[in-house]
Amino acid sequence: MPATVVVGSQWGDEGKGRVVDLLAADADLIVRYQGGNNAGHTVWVGDERFALHLIPTGILRNKPCLLGGGMVIDLGVLLKEEAELTARGVAVRENLRIGDNAHLILPYHKLVEAAEEERRGSRAIGTTRRGIGPAYEDKIARRGLRVGDLADPKRLREQLSDLVSYKNLLLERIYAQPGLDADEICDDLLSKYEQIAGCVCDASVATHQALSKGRRVLFEGAHGTMLDIDWGTYPFVTSSNPLSGAVTAGIGVGPQWLERIVGAAKAYTTRVGAGPFPTEVAEDVASKMRDTGGEYGTTTGRARRIGWFDAMVVRKSARINGLSALAITHLDVLSQFETVPVCVGYTCDGEALSEFPNDIDVLSRCQPVYESLPAWEEDISGVRSFSDLPANAQAYVRKIEELVAVPVSHILVGRQRDQSIIV
Ligand code: IMP
Repeated sequence: MPATVVVGSQWGDEGKGRVVDLLAADADLIVRYQGGNNAGHTVWVGDERFALHLIPTGILRNKPCLLGGGMVIDLGVLLKEEAELTARGVAVRENLRIGDNAHLILPYHKLVEAAEEERRGSRAIGTTRRGIGPAYEDKIARRGLRVGDLADPKRLREQLSDLVSYKNLLLERIYAQPGLDADEICDDLLSKYEQIAGCVCDASVATHQALSKGRRVLFEGAHGTMLDIDWGTYPFVTSSNPLSGAVTAGIGVGPQWLERIVGAAKAYTTRVGAGPFPTEVAEDVASKMRDTGGEYGTTTGRARRIGWFDAMVVRKSARINGLSALAITHLDVLSQFETVPVCVGYTCDGEALSEFPNDIDVLSRCQPVYESLPAWEEDISGVRSFSDLPANAQAYVRKIEELVAVPVSHILVGRQRDQSIIV
C-alpha cells in the first residue's frame, strides 16, 4: 500500500511544503487533492526561495505532479506559476498533469468574494480573496465550469453566456458593481486552455495506474484541519476539505491505498484570518516568534497570529485524519524562551473539556490550561539527530507525542532541506 498523505494539523502554514519536499524525494508521483491558490508552500533550495501556490511542491524534486479533481484552479495563476518556475530552471511542463474534473476559478468569483467580504464588514472571514469560496459554491450548486469543459469551445460559450448573465445580476443588483462580458471571459479561457490542453488527464486513472504498479504516491494536502469546511472552526474556514479522507473524493481513489498519514504541526501555533484562537499570545511575544519564524503569509503577506502549541487542536486532527505520524516543524523558533507553555486542555464556563468543541461560540469562551515546560538556550538549527537535541527539546517533543498520542517521525529545525531530523 504505497500512498502517503501529508496534511496540516493546525490552521495551515505548518510547514507542509517542507515536509512534502522531504518525502517527495522518495515519491514517484505527487498529487494535490483540494484547495487552490489560497495555499502557499514555501521551500528553500540552497539560497533560493520557492513559494508554490498551485503546483505541487514535488515539482522541485523533478517528479511527476498532478492537480486533482477536488481542486479549484485559476488558469492565469497556474500559467504564471509555471512560467516563473520554468524561468528558474524547474521542469514543469514535462511533469505536470491536470485533472479534467477540477473546477475553474473565474473572474466573477474573485469579484463576488471581495464584495461579500466588504459587505460582511467586521464579520468578514479574512479570506485570501482568490475566489476559492465562490468557486466551490458554484461547484456544489452545479453551475461550475471544469477544466474539461474548455475542450468544447461552442458549448463553453453557451455555458458562459448563461453563467455570466446570472453573475451579472448578482454583481450589479446586489453588490452595485459593473457586470462582466461573457465572450471576453470565454476568449481568455480558450487561449489559456490552448497552453495546457496537452497536460489535461483523468486524475483518477492516472493516480490509480501509478498505485497499481506499486509506485509511491504522495498526496499533498493544503491549508490545515482547523480550516476544514466540515470539521474546522466554521465559519472561519476555507471552502474545501483539507482532511486526509478528502483524497478519495478529490482524486477518485479508494481509501485502502492510504497507508501513512503524516500530520505537519508547528511546535507552536499560527493562524491567519479571523476566528477564535485559544492559545493566541500577546503581541510582544508574538512579534519575537514572527520574526524568527518568518511568520508572514506566503500567499497574502499578512502577519500571522501566533500562539502556543495547542494539544486539543492537534489531538482533534489526529482523530479526524487518522494520523499515523507527526512532523514537528519550526522547533528551532522556541530556542529563545526560558519556558514554553503547552496547552493540555480547555475549560469553558468553569468546566473542563475533554475534546476540542465544534461550536465556535463554545470555542471562543474556552480558556487554555497550560503546562509550562523548560526550554533550551542552545541553537538547534545544526542538530541532525534526535539524541543530539538538548534534553529539554527532546522532552518537549516527547510531551507532544504523549499529548497527541501519535509518534513524531520528523522534526524540522530550519528552512533548509537538510535541516531535518528523522526520529
Ligand atoms: P479562503 O481559503 O481564501 O476562502 O480563506 C478562508 C480562511 O482560510 C481565511 O482565514 C484564510 O486566511 C485561511 N486560509 C486559507 N488557506 C490558507 C493557508 O494555506 N494557510 C493559512 N490560512 C489559510
